[in-house]
Amino acid sequence: MLAGKRILLVIGGGIAAYKTLELIRLLRGQRAEVSPVLTRAGAQFVTPLSVSALAGEAVHEDLFDLTKEAEMGHIQLSRSADLVVVAPATADLMAKMAQGHASDLATTLLLATDTPVLIAPAMNVRMWQHPATQRNCEWLKGDGVALIGPNAGDMACGEHGPGRMAEPEEIVEAIAARLAAGPLAGKRVLVTSGPTHEPIDPVRYIANRSSGAQGTAIARALAALGADVVFITGPADVPPPGGVEVVRVQTAAQMLEAVQTALPADAAVFAAAVADWRVTTQNEAKIKKQAGALPVLELAENPDILAHVAQMGEGRPGLVVGFAAETCDVIDNATAKRVRKGCDWIVANDVGPATGIMGGTENAVHLVTGEGVEDWPRMDKALVARRLAQRLAEALA
Ligand code: CTP
Repeated sequence: MLAGKRILLVIGGGIAAYKTLELIRLLRGQRAEVSPVLTRAGAQFVTPLSVSALAGEAVHEDLFDLTKEAEMGHIQLSRSADLVVVAPATADLMAKMAQGHASDLATTLLLATDTPVLIAPAMNVRMWQHPATQRNCEWLKGDGVALIGPNAGDMACGEHGPGRMAEPEEIVEAIAARLAAGPLAGKRVLVTSGPTHEPIDPVRYIANRSSGAQGTAIARALAALGADVVFITGPADVPPPGGVEVVRVQTAAQMLEAVQTALPADAAVFAAAVADWRVTTQNEAKIKKQAGALPVLELAENPDILAHVAQMGEGRPGLVVGFAAETCDVIDNATAKRVRKGCDWIVANDVGPATGIMGGTENAVHLVTGEGVEDWPRMDKALVARRLAQRLAEALA
């Protein structure tokens, strides 16, 4: 997949640099060429010898290295790659990138490059959450820099939360997605996924059994065909794919807002299992049990995000795909749903408990379009996703 691709890999000074060694090994395993650049701080965590031994190339460390400048100038080095990857991207490196510093070899390369840049942030949770880092993050995104991670979890500093560098496998996936020159290159596709959680009070919520597996697989398959994917997800069981822009939401109202912000798009796939109802007024305090009296929850209807986008007129994505989760009369209900909601295609599936589809790894779907109904055989959700992504690519060609 990455054979012959050249990655300029900047290794910043964080404890996660040890995982970058594994990243180099994985990239080389996929026959990518890796030019490593080690910052001064990075060299405190991994040695130039281990980096160059794994990369099979000399490490670039110094801006004023006459020998290396004679072989290849730093400007040329910055443009010699298909992708520049920064892993770990420390808070300091991100701040320097956002500000346009050129104070050492790494920052100079990052300022001089005309190649796409992907960064894998890694830092203490407080540092990640600090407004300055979040501001830098937004600036970098605005400059076209792509991010993978950080993930939440236990950190080397003993704290817990977002800040862990994405795993090497995830970074490889993100790199492959950035480099994919597939049929969807240059197309922006929005995908909603997962359940939504509608709060009842601070500790309880209305939810459903969606794991987010099918929506995640679709986003992954679209990215693998080269699409720029905006992945808007409720609280799912499965982690989001690498190489896509992830927007996390809890409620249907937040999902609608995130969708509106993410538009315009060439296509939109609505795989989320959005809760149809929310509690009209959310209780500020936990509802207490009262002897002999049951609480009554008044429900209000949630906005139908798919119908809203499918019927929006100006700014409507060229192709709008919905899902229909049915437990009976699957095709009839899905055909009616396609017309009622105004979308172009409906991917219909039977989510009755006997099928094991909701929360499972396989799916058996029917693709309902204006031309008719196609019955796809039961297969792995990843295969359903790839077939759907391929169909999208043909429709958008
Ligand atoms: N959907 C949506 N917003 C909602 C409800 C559903 O965007 N508030 C989208 C889903 O993402 C899916 C499609 O609409 O693509 C159909 O969802 P489904 O739950 O099958 O249908 P409902 O609209 O809930 O209809 P019903 O309950 O009558 O089956």
